[in-house]
Amino acid sequence: MIRHANGLGPRAAAASLAAALALAPAATLAQDFENQVAARQGQFKVMALNLGMLGGMARGTVEYDADTAALAAANLVAISQLDQAFHWPEGSDNIMLDTTRAQPSIWEDFDDFASKWQDYGTQAAALAEVAATGQEALGPAVGALGGTCQACHEAHRGPELN
Ligand code: HEC
Repeated sequence: MIRHANGLGPRAAAASLAAALALAPAATLAQDFENQVAARQGQFKVMALNLGMLGGMARGTVEYDADTAALAAANLVAISQLDQAFHWPEGSDNIMLDTTRAQPSIWEDFDDFASKWQDYGTQAAALAEVAATGQEALGPAVGALGGTCQACHEAHRGPELN
């Protein structure tokens, strides 16, 4: 008769192996952070869409419309208020995953990352203040907001995925 080193009988050993196998795929999936990465990339796409409309109006390639400008600015403010806690789980960086451009620097200095997100919120709010007041006001406000996107990308966003 085979003695099991862990002291479990054959049936218990088989059961614990089955439990371990059942857990393995779930543990692997959790490490993919598929939903979190998709959610944060989606939020950035929405930001780019709204900023793009405002940028077009600022440059004059899209006809200025006060209501549309106010709406796009309000969307940018709304996203800035979305709590980011669920979007950035530790281990969801571009060293661990090939689905993301998020650099490990985000987690090495999360305060810096959070303050750059805060800067985006501040400039989004400033843009919302002036968005409906006329086309001339848009340029500087859009430029200031775009600067906050760029600052974070330069510090914390890695190269494009291929
Ligand atoms: C606090 C940091 C931060 C700020 C502020 C920020 N971004 Fe990003 N952005 C990132 C990071 C990090 C990624 C990579 C996310 C990933 O791939 O998981 C990203 C990705 C993106 C993407 C690519 C999304 C995709 O399709 O995968 C776009 C577009 C984008 N950002 C636009 C913007 C715009 C527009 C703004 C400003 C209105 C902005 N971002 C502000 C950090 C930031």
